[in-house]
Amino acid sequence: MIRKFNTKCKQKTKIRKVFSRIFQILKMIIITILNYFKDISVGLRDVRVTIPAAVKRGDNALLICNYDMEGDSLYSIKWYKGKREFYRYTPKETQSIIKTFPVAGINVETNLSNASQVVISQVDTNISGKFSCEVSADAPHFNTMIVSGEMNVVEIPEAKPVIDGIMARYRPGDELRGNCSSQYSKPAANLTWMVNDVPASPSQMIFYKLSKNDSNLESTILGIHFSITQQHFIRGKLKLKCIAQIHEIYHQSDERLIEEVRPKILATGTSNMNMYHSINEGELSNPNVGMTQYKANKLKHSNKQQSQVRVTPPQRQSQQQQTSPLTPLRGLRFNGSAAPGD
Ligand SMILES: *[C@@H]1O[C@H](CO)[C@@H](O)[C@H](O)[C@H]1NC(C)=O
Ligand SMILES: *[C@@H]1O[C@H](CO)[C@@H](O)[C@H](O)[C@H]1NC(C)=O
Ligand SMILES: *[C@@H]1O[C@H](CO)[C@@H](O)[C@H](O)[C@H]1NC(C)=O
Ligand SMILES: *[C@@H]1O[C@H](CO)[C@@H](O)[C@H](O)[C@H]1NC(C)=O
Ligand SMILES: *[C@@H]1O[C@H](CO)[C@@H](O)[C@H](O)[C@H]1NC(C)=O
Ligand SMILES: *[C@@H]1O[C@H](CO)[C@@H](O)[C@H](O)[C@H]1NC(C)=O
Ligand SMILES: *[C@@H]1O[C@H](CO)[C@@H](O)[C@H](O)[C@H]1NC(C)=O
Repeated sequence: MIRKFNTKCKQKTKIRKVFSRIFQILKMIIITILNYFKDISVGLRDVRVTIPAAVKRGDNALLICNYDMEGDSLYSIKWYKGKREFYRYTPKETQSIIKTFPVAGINVETNLSNASQVVISQVDTNISGKFSCEVSADAPHFNTMIVSGEMNVVEIPEAKPVIDGIMARYRPGDELRGNCSSQYSKPAANLTWMVNDVPASPSQMIFYKLSKNDSNLESTILGIHFSITQQHFIRGKLKLKCIAQIHEIYHQSDERLIEEVRPKILATGTSNMNMYHSINEGELSNPNVGMTQYKANKLKHSNKQQSQVRVTPPQRQSQQQQTSPLTPLRGLRFNGSAAPGD
């Protein structure tokens, strides 16, 4: 029984071997056929352009056009901005191998341009758009191929992006609101918020309309808004970062390290003012003024002999964001150096 099974197995493996051999032979035949067709020259092929996606205004732009003539000879290279030809290279021309044609805003550096590249000097933002390279082969195939790419001439901002509206300290439960702005560029920079190195979610961002100045330069603002939780603080710190990018040529950022204000009972010693039993319903004031200052809604008089002031940090609700201007608690003022919880 076992022996019978074994011979069956051996037969199977034999069949498998034969089949794999047949497959190998077929594969070789196919490859040979493909190579045969490849060797028959079809002339010009593989035209590729390397066009910078972004160039700074005033810089020179290098546009490259590579191609494989497959043994044929080159008849001409033509470069177009949109549909308008501005450069022609004809190696067999006896008069002038390089010709340029006037196209607004395009000045070719002829001594830096040849059959495979063209250099446009001191580009202006208004020449952004589609550039194409057309390669034509001579006899016997006379093939022509055209390939295009997009080039953006960019005006980068003079200043790096700026974060504002954010305070130095927050408590878990607080609402954080802030803005990041990047001024005067073309096109407007792409802004990204990072919260502890993780991109902010769209629901945490507030998108504002772009604004333009009279020179058509664009400014952009991206807001951020979320409720702070304990988990946002890593070793007592929350890192906020705003990144401004314009294609691959501009990358700047601004950053804030926010500190956590821990809720804690504050005990103070002597005081000559009226003693407050508690300021339970104290309410946090305008967030722009500072987390460490409070307005007491209801101050309860208490025993004058008592020398303890107990402050329970208030639970702020988001609706309380835009509360009345700060009314500092008379005589009891917390500031950076004497904040509750520190
Ligand atoms: C681009 O602007 C420059 C000067 O600002 C002007 O000379 C040129 O004609 C403009 N080009 C186009 C294509 O509008
Ligand atoms: C190219 O030619 C211009 C004049 O047409 C000249 O000013 C420039 O120095 C030349 N550049 C090079 C690299 O030869
Ligand atoms: C064109 O000029 C560049 C830079 O000098 C050079 O690297 C490239 O090989 C030239 N191309 C041809 C086809 O002569
Ligand atoms: C963010 O900027 C917008 C638009 O200028 C403004 O309305 C808003 O009050 C700013 N927010 C903060 C928190 O500064
Ligand atoms: C637009 O902003 C830029 C950058 O601040 C400035 O150089 C330019 O003069 C402004 N244009 C106008 C018309 O205000
Ligand atoms: C901004 O980002 C979008 C999406 O990634 C991209 O398509 C666009 O080109 C970028 N704009 C700039 C000015 O970098
Ligand atoms: C903050 O506290 C410091 C030291 O306790 C004090 O010198 C300063 O005047 C206080 N500032 C305010 C605005 O109360």
